[in-house]
Amino acid sequence: MKEKIDLSRVPQHIAVIMDGNGRWAKKRGAARVFGHRNAVKAVQEISEASAELGVKYLTLYAFSTENWNRPQEEVNALMQLLVNTIEKEVPTLQKNNIRLMTIGNMERLPSDCVKTLRKAIADTANNTGMTVVLALSYSGRWEILNAVKAMAADIEAKRLSSDDINDERFNYYLNTYNIPDPELIIRTSGEMRISNFLLWQLAYSELFFTDILWPDFRKEHLYEAVLSYQSRERRFGKISEQLVQP
Ligand code: IPE
Ligand code: IPE
Ligand code: MG
Repeated sequence: MKEKIDLSRVPQHIAVIMDGNGRWAKKRGAARVFGHRNAVKAVQEISEASAELGVKYLTLYAFSTENWNRPQEEVNALMQLLVNTIEKEVPTLQKNNIRLMTIGNMERLPSDCVKTLRKAIADTANNTGMTVVLALSYSGRWEILNAVKAMAADIEAKRLSSDDINDERFNYYLNTYNIPDPELIIRTSGEMRISNFLLWQLAYSELFFTDILWPDFRKEHLYEAVLSYQSRERRFGKISEQLVQP
């Protein structure tokens, strides 16, 4: 399938809602955390495949604001898994020239998580290949409300005039400032919803839904999503005839 991909039209930014770990475990008669542990392999595969295709940004929705409402033991297990995985993966990120970033409310994460993340972000800050953006304690509404609060504060302090608010200026207040909007969003596990992910940024994203549960997601599934993306006509409100290249 990889050969069919037009490498000159690969999305710059792919964002993934990694869903279905719990159901994957349940099918095997195991606890939900077993699914989360087996999700790491899928993350490794998709990162590698994305880098090989020349993707510049890969955003992975790993933990939503709403996920704090899960049973405490699941939340703890996810945070522990996060720390262990980041610590283990930093050498691979370095080797592959991958930069790590996060979006979301870091303040809510346990302090050992924050410490590990800060170190990994600093250690990989100068890498120039792909950027992996982990969405942690993230939600689109949280991000937008935060942006609005910061803008209001700047207006009060006379650093910003309401006349100057436009798309570009609004972007500046988001966690994803400097990151292009995702051209492609993938969600696994058969659910067809956005679950509070990148609400502002997905205005014109192409959406790809697959029944594959996240722990089963492999390179071929990413290729399938990219091929689907390449088969679509992105009109941005125009009509087809206006898009024909001269
Ligand atoms: C996605 O898998 C991982 C996280 C949200 C942390 P789930 O844990 O949501 O798995 P399902 O949807 O219950 O199968
Ligand atoms: C979305 O998955 C969040 C992540 C993948 C991190 P959920 O499993 O939390 O989504 P809902 O609650 O089913 O919409
Ligand atoms: Mg889920």
